[in-house]
Amino acid sequence: MIRCHMSFVKSGKILLGITGGIAAYKTPELIRLIRKSGCDSEIILTQSAKNFVAPMTLETLSGRKVWTDSDFDATIPHIKLTEWAEVFVISPCTANTLAKISHGIADNLLTSAVIAAKCPVLIFPAMNVNMYDNPATQANISALKSRGLKVIEPSSGELACGVYGKGRMPEPKEIIHEIRRALTPQDMAGKKVIVTAGPTHEYIDPVRYISNPSSGKMGTAMARSAWYRGAEVRLIAGPVDVDAYGMTLIRAESAGDMLDAVRENLSWADYVVKAAAVGDYRAKEISPRKLKREGRETLTLELVQNPDISSEAGKLKRPGQILIGFAAETENITENARAKIVRKNLDYILANDVTAENSGFRSDTNTLKLIPRSESEAVQTFSGLKEDISFEIWSRLIAR
Ligand SMILES: Cc1cc2nc3c(=O)[nH]c(=O)nc-3n(C[C@H](O)[C@H](O)[C@H](O)COP(=O)(O)O)c2cc1C
Repeated sequence: MIRCHMSFVKSGKILLGITGGIAAYKTPELIRLIRKSGCDSEIILTQSAKNFVAPMTLETLSGRKVWTDSDFDATIPHIKLTEWAEVFVISPCTANTLAKISHGIADNLLTSAVIAAKCPVLIFPAMNVNMYDNPATQANISALKSRGLKVIEPSSGELACGVYGKGRMPEPKEIIHEIRRALTPQDMAGKKVIVTAGPTHEYIDPVRYISNPSSGKMGTAMARSAWYRGAEVRLIAGPVDVDAYGMTLIRAESAGDMLDAVRENLSWADYVVKAAAVGDYRAKEISPRKLKREGRETLTLELVQNPDISSEAGKLKRPGQILIGFAAETENITENARAKIVRKNLDYILANDVTAENSGFRSDTNTLKLIPRSESEAVQTFSGLKEDISFEIWSRLIAR
């Protein structure tokens, strides 16, 4: 579930402007997700948008009346709605509305609201690729950006008109990520973060591998929280489904691949969070052919140890970099973790108490102890949804 975490965002009052583009067909899903996330939305439709999406659909999904130009009267809805809103999202934004707002034209309820808005404004242009590439559209986008409005580039792909190119409105769940980022204090802006996440695969033959049940949820939660707070994020992910919208996704299949990726990217980062469940061993030899079961009652594999990525990163660490390792511990958690921190030249260990309930692999919740290198810094326990505790862990790390 995508949620607005009340302890770190404002209360989630979203003003959504919908204009007359074909991508308006995605907006009922967007409104459904906004509501599911615990946020509240008010919706303004342009006259032309009503040809693409029915107000009654949006009213049903949002649980509120939808505002149109027939409401643009002495009750001054353009002022009231923008005073209420914490973020103003225009999605999809037509070339026409983009042009109007870049010139300060206020000839309908939506464009009047834009010029009255004091809150952050996020604009999602969506149109045919030629309309998007047109110098007029590009000049309008530059003008809006230079005035501090955030214009999110459309994605590339098959457009409704049948051609391929840039101009697609992002998917609703991606728009939710942008909204959450806009609602989150940008206290990690300018920071560069690497997070490793997920399992690794160590092949024993062309069709089989040794792995573990890591879902990558803890790592992606750490990456996503940093991104919401304004950081630039590189997510080095093992072979598991991850939502890396807005981040640079670097894929690594085996422990060796992950080590290469960490080495290549390490010097770039201010923070390195090593949340991947990297296999400790790999097959000494990978069979070039599928190992047959016929004539084999038992099969013995010889395994060799993989390099320890945390230790390798610790050796290459530059001054000022913060390295955070993960460890699964069952006893003497703090002492064992401190010894590991020193041995591997880390700054913190997040120790997974694998004996705690509702923790660990695949779970949406976790219990972690943040153990600092310095004995003068307190050990702190975080327990709850992985996305919530990630946010709290970053608060602690950046306050350092
Ligand atoms: C079927 C159809 C699809 C359209 N799709 C888009 C679109 O995706 N993006 C866009 O910028 N304009 C599109 N237009 C043009 C806009 O609807 C037109 O410029 C309109 O004046 C926009 O009004 P508004 O900006 O007030 O909503 C489309 C027009 C039609 C008839």
